[in-house]
Amino acid sequence: MHRFIQQLPKVELHLHIEGSLEPELMFELAQRNQVDIPFTSPQEVRDAYQFTNLQDFLDIYYQGANVLLHEQDFYDLTWAYLLRCKEDNVIHTEIFFDPQTHTARGVAFETVIEGISKALDQGKKELGISSQIIMCFLRHLSEEDAIKTLEQALPYKDKIIGVGLDSSEQGHPPEKFTEVFRQAHEAGFLAVAHAGEEGPAMNIRNAIDILGVHRVDHGVRCVEDKALVTELAETRMPLTVCPLSNLKLKVFEEMEEHNIVELLRQGLCVTINSDDPAYFGGYMTDNFNAVADAHPMSHEELAQFTLNAIEASFIADQEKQQMKNTVHKFLTIHG
Ligand code: HPA
Ligand code: ZN
Repeated sequence: MHRFIQQLPKVELHLHIEGSLEPELMFELAQRNQVDIPFTSPQEVRDAYQFTNLQDFLDIYYQGANVLLHEQDFYDLTWAYLLRCKEDNVIHTEIFFDPQTHTARGVAFETVIEGISKALDQGKKELGISSQIIMCFLRHLSEEDAIKTLEQALPYKDKIIGVGLDSSEQGHPPEKFTEVFRQAHEAGFLAVAHAGEEGPAMNIRNAIDILGVHRVDHGVRCVEDKALVTELAETRMPLTVCPLSNLKLKVFEEMEEHNIVELLRQGLCVTINSDDPAYFGGYMTDNFNAVADAHPMSHEELAQFTLNAIEASFIADQEKQQMKNTVHKFLTIHG
């Protein structure tokens, strides 16, 4: 099973590039940029990654991002992630970045987007991995701040496919960002939002109905509203689920309790993603393995996660069809 999973073509739709910062690179960048970090070794960083909830993680995650200052840093970060994608047979990835985490520290929007997009261009050419970029608004900050960030993004619209919403869900519901999402749609951006990770099912409804999202990030608390689950299945509204993240942040206590396979079998467009792999202990293959170990599944069901991700991705229909053909061919040979 693990061999099949490793070789299975994969598509990632929920990955925070800042969350792919491995402790070794964090140390290297801290030295290169002469930034103080409160750790003496990469192992000490890893030992600190014990979280009891989302906020615990976010505090450490924003601290880690302090070592990212120059275009080269964002390039190195993104390139390291792409090399991991290659190992895991990820053929397409749509990555998030958090501009406000950087602009608040005096790093220019341009520095961030240029570093990331140069690495992604090279990834397409040298590794054959296609990609898109989504910028997320930090929901613990004001809507006014998000609107300013949207304005900063306009000159780079050709590089950014959509907007998202991340950070602390508790106390910062989707409807707080109604106006900025309205403006983002008007400017031609697609939209996604984290909802129903730590927050209630109502946040999923409101992300869909008020923010007009095309995908829901996480969304696993939909099961608390039976009518919503039926609606998600009927509309094929995608959920970008992150199994190892959910375990690390105690959304579920055990992988056996995770609802992703049940949702797949109910016909929802659920996908498997790594979220913040450097913090949560695994990239795409690790996430697939963790789910399959806890929930016995057929090869067809495993491949369905990739087919769902292709369906949910922000790429042209023709490319989607080509990717689907690749998966079906893989299944014929390895199924
Ligand atoms: N949830 C909310 N915000 C985040 C996450 C997450 O899982 N990862 C990075 N920012
Ligand atoms: Zn996330």
